[in-house]
Amino acid sequence: MIAMTPPMGWNSWNTFGTNISDALIREMADAMVDKGYRDAGYTYLVIDDCWSKRQRGERGELVPDPEKFPNGMKAVADYVHSRGLKFGMYSCAGVMTCGGYPSSFGHEFEDAAQFASWGVDFLKYDFCNFPSGADCKTAYITMSMALKASGREILFSACNWGQQEPWKWMRSIGAHMYRSTGDIQDNFVSFRDILRSQLDNFCMSGNCCFNDIDMLTVGMYGKGNVALGDKCTDSDYRTQFGLWSFFGVPLMLGGDLRNMNDFCRELTQNRDLIRIDQDRECRPPYQIYHGRPQYGSTDWWTIPWDSALSFIRHLSDNEFAIGLFNLSDADGQITFTFANAGLPWQSGFGMDLRDVFTGEEMTSARDYLTPEVKAHDCRIFIGRLKKL
Ligand code: GAL
Repeated sequence: MIAMTPPMGWNSWNTFGTNISDALIREMADAMVDKGYRDAGYTYLVIDDCWSKRQRGERGELVPDPEKFPNGMKAVADYVHSRGLKFGMYSCAGVMTCGGYPSSFGHEFEDAAQFASWGVDFLKYDFCNFPSGADCKTAYITMSMALKASGREILFSACNWGQQEPWKWMRSIGAHMYRSTGDIQDNFVSFRDILRSQLDNFCMSGNCCFNDIDMLTVGMYGKGNVALGDKCTDSDYRTQFGLWSFFGVPLMLGGDLRNMNDFCRELTQNRDLIRIDQDRECRPPYQIYHGRPQYGSTDWWTIPWDSALSFIRHLSDNEFAIGLFNLSDADGQITFTFANAGLPWQSGFGMDLRDVFTGEEMTSARDYLTPEVKAHDCRIFIGRLKKL
């Protein structure tokens, strides 16, 4: 079985776009191993759009661009596998990929067989240039069947940008993850809005089929293919990675792993955050509503109430994660109310917590947490019940 927990890996699109090659993929495979990503759980290395020639070959087959991939794709796959990683590729449900390359509409079974023959373990399946008279669900179930028919176990990463509410049907057509939104950009507003748009849908994400809110941009700092808008700060990235892992979604890194700075490498390899993301029960977080301030004046409430998000997530082995996210542009306090998480003071229970970023322990927390959370930043704790 694949994708029992959210898939983790790296994808070429966010940083490199069309500038991909055999050499780059090999270097990235080396970086995934040498810099600790593989051992932290990032196992899929995925080539996105723009890898093929502009035309199919004489037998109708997809042909890797000989300038970018002079040794063919099987050689790349073999190298990726030799480093203990899994190999992913990209096609599209329409008649051309977004970059204008041949794609799989009407060629699903041949293309799936070809991917399998190269040793592909993961297929991202995009939605550009989809014929207006065709049916989206049929296109995705057809590729899902084609992958099954290929005889190889291939993770199906459906990417139709949230069209036709994929959270309601992608699981039943056999996909392992589905893009639920448009493309991420490397700025805080973009990923804040992506996360918010899915708050009601995470309840339908779980084992074997996950809501995919797009590849991460951690570490890009305004460079690369999706660098638009205000350049991210370290706290923006802490919140991006904190949100993605707290919500238990696929963690597909998009930065250049060959030269991520220490902050971003440590952040994306944070053991507690990966443990939360990969929790085997795959439960969505529960939002703690504290409502609007009650006392008329709102002067003391510096964060707009809909930007101060607080959650608890039930994890396996009686652990819990608590996440406080300040999605506003102002510093302030965020309240987590234990009573609203099922622990009123009369229960006689609180929690022993550890801050996942600082390692700081907080024993016997009860009633409220009201930490200061800087603009665009977050606090995440992992912990256990404590009899007080
Ligand atoms: C978009 C997709 C991106 C990337 C791009 C390639 O449709 O959402 O993640 O794959 O196409 O052209």
